[in-house]
Amino acid sequence: MTRVVTICGSLRKASLNAGLARTLPELAPPGMTLRLLDGLDSFPHYDADLQAQGLPPVVDEWAQAIRAADGVVIVSPEYNYSVPGVLKNALDWLSRLRPGGPFDGRPVALQSVSPGMLGGARAQYHLRQVLVCLNARTLNDPEVFVSGADRFGPDGRLTDPASRDFVAAQLAAFDAFIKAGP
Ligand code: FNR
Repeated sequence: MTRVVTICGSLRKASLNAGLARTLPELAPPGMTLRLLDGLDSFPHYDADLQAQGLPPVVDEWAQAIRAADGVVIVSPEYNYSVPGVLKNALDWLSRLRPGGPFDGRPVALQSVSPGMLGGARAQYHLRQVLVCLNARTLNDPEVFVSGADRFGPDGRLTDPASRDFVAAQLAAFDAFIKAGP
């Protein structure tokens, strides 16, 4: 059994990235479970003074969920060629749990959706850089960039067959990456 938690970098109800995140369980290889973490909108703005008063509950909850998981999939939009502030803010909070932070040595796979042609690639490469600082073990290949809102059905799920195959291939590779260990 491979237990994976999913983080979505968009707060929007009709988010394409959330739609992809919701589609992942049906594309997972046998034995892999994926659970979408909620509460991204509950992270306060990072403030060391606030941290000194005690960790906000959502930070603790996410840290525990990530530590208990075998891997993390981050599905995020690109904002202004980079990582959305809400996602960066959550990662900044989680990065304060050191040593042995929740991402330390943790396998991570990245996916992004954008209506634009590059499918959020620039955000993913910025995210990869942040994950180096967190000492995550980020999957390199295959990469998943979903380009175009027309690849989703009316209920928001990813329906385009070629995109679904790509995502399924990444999840299978991620499963093998997790099982292979460092
Ligand atoms: C965007 N969008 C965007 N798209 C892109 O491919 N590159 C970019 O740099 C940006 N920049 C950007 C900034 C801001 C502030 C917003 C609100 C949007 C468009 C973005 O990809 C699009 O709105 C997606 O639909 C957002 O993802 P969700 O919310 O649908 O998951």
